[in-house]
Amino acid sequence: MNEKTYSDWYNYSISDSDDFWLEKAKEFISWSEEPTIGQEGSMSERNYSWFSDGKLNVSYNCIDRHVNNGRGNHNAIIWEGNDENSLTITYDELLINVSKFSNLLKAQGIKKGEKVCIYMPMIPEAIYAMLACARIGAVHTVVFGGFSSEALVSRILDSECVAIITADVIKRGNKTIPLKKKVDEAIEKCPTVSTIITVSTYTEFSQTTKYDIDYNTAVILMSDICEPLPMNSEDPLFILYTSGSTGKPKGVLHTTGGYILYASITHKYIFDYHTNEVYWCTADIGWITGHSYVVYGPLANGATTLVFEGVPTFPTPARYWEIVDKHEVNIIYSTPTTIRSLMAQGDEYVQSTSRKSLRILGSVGEPINPEAWRWYSKVIGRNTCPIMDTWWQTETGGIAISPLPCSSNLKPGFATQPFFGITPVIINEEGEELFGETEGILVLKGSWPGQLRSLYNDKERFAETYLNKYPGYYLTGDGVKRDSDGALAITGRIDDTLNISGRLLGTAEIESALILHKDVSEAAAVATSHPVKGWSISSFVTLNNGTEEKPRLKEELVDIVSREIGSYAKPDKIYCVESLPKTRSGKIMRRIIREISNGNISGFGDTSTLSNPEAVGQIIRKLGLES
Ligand code: WT7
Repeated sequence: MNEKTYSDWYNYSISDSDDFWLEKAKEFISWSEEPTIGQEGSMSERNYSWFSDGKLNVSYNCIDRHVNNGRGNHNAIIWEGNDENSLTITYDELLINVSKFSNLLKAQGIKKGEKVCIYMPMIPEAIYAMLACARIGAVHTVVFGGFSSEALVSRILDSECVAIITADVIKRGNKTIPLKKKVDEAIEKCPTVSTIITVSTYTEFSQTTKYDIDYNTAVILMSDICEPLPMNSEDPLFILYTSGSTGKPKGVLHTTGGYILYASITHKYIFDYHTNEVYWCTADIGWITGHSYVVYGPLANGATTLVFEGVPTFPTPARYWEIVDKHEVNIIYSTPTTIRSLMAQGDEYVQSTSRKSLRILGSVGEPINPEAWRWYSKVIGRNTCPIMDTWWQTETGGIAISPLPCSSNLKPGFATQPFFGITPVIINEEGEELFGETEGILVLKGSWPGQLRSLYNDKERFAETYLNKYPGYYLTGDGVKRDSDGALAITGRIDDTLNISGRLLGTAEIESALILHKDVSEAAAVATSHPVKGWSISSFVTLNNGTEEKPRLKEELVDIVSREIGSYAKPDKIYCVESLPKTRSGKIMRRIIREISNGNISGFGDTSTLSNPEAVGQIIRKLGLES
């Protein structure tokens, strides 16, 4: 596809959106009943659907059709274990494993529409579990294995899961993290759950609750034939939680037909995937990137997807590039934080490998700074691989802004142009559209098949968060700038969320955890710029009247955040202060605290509503920043 055909196709996808998407729906997806309807409803109606008269099964699309097309002996998954052991799984084998897993779920009485929580390491069984749910019409909600038992409970309760699929432990580098133990702690508080299936990987299975099923012994008894259940295009496929600006995570709901089409078409075009290539997305399946670009997009396209259990620095910081050579990876898709952390280790770890198989590099999750972009391009890509800086969100289902490999307009730091069917618009605070070279709020106009349909059980919050503020637009929560060539660069979050190493966290989530401490009265969490993680968390707490700061206060606060959310949410810095700057109406002015935590002690913009200016000076002194 050259530049001209990109704009031809793009214009077609916008002006004749239904025709474009119905054509692509037939080209990319096998339907048991082909759709004749494209989009119905609209964002202004707060209700929209895609391909509503179509029927299909996602697991059939990701497995059976490739087997039926004679590609059963082609590798579906290359699994690289933490300890440098590896395994390949063909499409034939994937079909058997997923069918058996589906029958195991059915044998536990799990039915279409019921919710199943998947809390797993990066092992092939995690993917079998996702596809098995899709095969029988159960709705999965994957919870990242790094989340705490408390975070697991709140997600299970919100989505009303009937079963949990988990593993004994997670192996990452030198660490072995007990996973089933966290499930056992959670289960007391999860009345809807009556089945726990545990895949034992490194230890012997031992029954600890009355709900326990030993996967390894149960699955061998299952038949390897399970007919995929035809689903309506708008039946739910999965719920995935993401942080919002209040304390409660949002259960983003994706449905079947639109999602799988959008995941597969973006995977095919943006990574220019060719049959027999090895494709590696380094994300964990606990995040949307793992859903769309480790599992659904690549498997729907019949690709070979590499699944890595470990971490980039074990046994050495050369690990990623050794994996690339070992499995002759053609396409790698990773995050700016990983790139920056490996860049900091020095080029010798890269130079000891050849990476000659690499053809395309991808980046996702946070803005990539030009320095990291250039290192990725020059050192990793030997100046021969284009970089796809892909912008999207849990809510968009798939990549929404990105160059295509054939584009000639790559620019460090720019995600550049919209994918087919996506209309990015830049507006100001008042909702007025801005044209030409400009900077403002990123909104998307018009629906696309991969768009979230709602927040699970919370249509009101869905409309409130994304649709009501600027009617007719989907609000992304990101800032954006457009240069004189029309290329787009994402500038970062503009709401009360923080992007730490490409993972979103709500300020309110962290603050609600901090104020659980008996001595803490109020808390504010802000993002401080960080050379590797992009941003890190700094938190500021005030203590209850008459309470002195105890010597272990900061450690206790860090423990609470790990317990309530997970250790990746731990603040890097905690400051105990006399008071927090507030507006006259009592709202914490995080903007000012954020400026100070980033070393700026003046030029706070409009401070006319600040009710306690003395708090600002106190914080500046606390951080040792006075001039
Ligand atoms: C937020 C979505 C969807 C991928 C994983 C994160 C930020 C994502 C980019 C990029 C600048 C990016 C945005 C977005 N983001 N990709 N290429 N350049 N920022 O999914 O947890 O839903 O987070 O990640 O701020 O809104 P998520």
